[in-house]
Amino acid sequence: MNIQALLSDKVSQALIAAGAPADCEPQVRQSAKAQFGDYQANGVMAVAKKLGMPPRQLAEQVIASLDLTGIAAKVEIAGPGFINIFLDPVFLAQRVDEAAASDRAGVTKVAQPQTVVVDYSAPNVAKEMHVGHVRSTIIGDAAVRTLEFLGHKVIRANHVGDWGTQFGMLIAFLEKQQNENAGDMALADLENFYREAKKHYDEDADFAERARAYVVKLQGGDEYCRQMWRKLVDITMTQNQLTYERMNVTLTRDDVMGESLYNPMLPGIVADLKEKGLATESEGATVVFLDEYKNKEGEPMGVIIQKKDGGYLYTTTDIACAKYRYETLHADRVLYYIDSRQHQHLMQAWTIVRKAGYVPDSVPLEHHMFGMMLGKDGKPFKTRAGGTIKLTELLDEAMERARRLVGEKNPDMPADELEKLADAVGIGAVKYADLSKSRTTDYVFDWDNMLAFEGNTAPYMQYAYTRVLSVFRKAGVDESSLTAPVAITEEREAALAARLLQFEETLTTVAREGTPHVMCAYLYDVAGLFSGFYEHCPILSAGSDAVRQSRLKLALLTAKTLKLGLDTLGIKTVERM
Ligand code: ARG
Repeated sequence: MNIQALLSDKVSQALIAAGAPADCEPQVRQSAKAQFGDYQANGVMAVAKKLGMPPRQLAEQVIASLDLTGIAAKVEIAGPGFINIFLDPVFLAQRVDEAAASDRAGVTKVAQPQTVVVDYSAPNVAKEMHVGHVRSTIIGDAAVRTLEFLGHKVIRANHVGDWGTQFGMLIAFLEKQQNENAGDMALADLENFYREAKKHYDEDADFAERARAYVVKLQGGDEYCRQMWRKLVDITMTQNQLTYERMNVTLTRDDVMGESLYNPMLPGIVADLKEKGLATESEGATVVFLDEYKNKEGEPMGVIIQKKDGGYLYTTTDIACAKYRYETLHADRVLYYIDSRQHQHLMQAWTIVRKAGYVPDSVPLEHHMFGMMLGKDGKPFKTRAGGTIKLTELLDEAMERARRLVGEKNPDMPADELEKLADAVGIGAVKYADLSKSRTTDYVFDWDNMLAFEGNTAPYMQYAYTRVLSVFRKAGVDESSLTAPVAITEEREAALAARLLQFEETLTTVAREGTPHVMCAYLYDVAGLFSGFYEHCPILSAGSDAVRQSRLKLALLTAKTLKLGLDTLGIKTVERM
């Protein structure tokens, strides 16, 4: 049920009847304040301006032909020409009834599913995931879950950094380790492995020589080098897969579409860009000059797509990968969850993609960027010793803190249940803290805030969910025994009902903008409205069985909405805590 879409449709029709053009925008929004009703239509002013009409007069005409019988109880004009819509409690009650009976909380699937390619996580081979990958993984996975819930076809593209000149050095080091440790693959500490390899490369001339030879061989398709390369990729991705599972992230090995996948396309792309007159030779390299980007001298900026030595660049790969996602994966839309520092890189790659006609304008390429993760001191998040924080260690700490926290609150809980709870709370807290902030800004990582049982946090939301469930336990009923219809008489019932029915609208916003914090804010609001409702509208001691059942249905829909909403965020729920 999407009430906003329904009202938009109705207001559009009324606007057109009043003389507005067919493509007019009704601008129906959820009202910010109860005094403005449940929804506001703000489109009258813009249309009035176009028609050269006083906006209030147009608003009167719109209202005259606006047929909201059975939907709204009251419609009024406010200010210069806003239309405030107050939903009819009977309409709300019926919709709650339907939604409470559905296992999707009344959310319908989209009529026209799209194929959406989502580029996220994208760690680098032989390196630990760093904080930038963490945000990409968490936010990207929430977007993916939301799109899928709405019925879109999602292709997860894990653009793993599995190619580049560093592989000569990594192969040489893996070989050295294998020789010395007789097959014992001590790659557990990826960061260390990389650092050691680099050290040998910088300090040992023979080693460096071998490394350089291996790069050439690898690029030439040499069997031994390919095998060693594959080993490095496998070990890294096996480790990352464990992390994904620990984090309740839906990525699998099948979703790996690393940079190397696009290698075979690169020579053709460079040749094609030259042929189209977009790329030229400049000091031995192949360069695309873009008028859209100026260098310090105010001249068109040159984007190198092939180096003097024949090597290709990160940009060349991203040009190829956009083309592949359209041509081969048949994407209708492509989303990239990458930190904001790579914005210019993407814009340049995509400008070239559009100029070359590789992806038509009808297929959006969207950079859903995010800021940095900062420590409490406002500086980039680091260990106390100043090193980068390893994700596994971060998750270990989250678990440890959560174990202590939930252990104190539940001294009698069996150990295995406690461990499950700690997992839901600890991992959930780390994820939710990230998801609940607008992704475009930097955010401060703070254990105490994220593990608090008050405020917009995972533990609060998870606890709110268990509280709703406990109402059912106390009532001793299950879903199927609720047969009386929903009736809405109290203000708190109406407020909760109207908000619950905005679940689909919220999902739609998250799917469109890739902003899971909108879902977090929504669920937090629902939890708050439920508290108010529960406090003021007795359920178990309601005056009649009909009222009791009606209120239990509101509680049922609340539980379903919280659970499904948290699911789309990749946050686990438990039955009691
Ligand atoms: N591996 C890259 C990094 O660590 C991120 C890749 C993002 N995706 C892309 N299509 N460029 O920075």
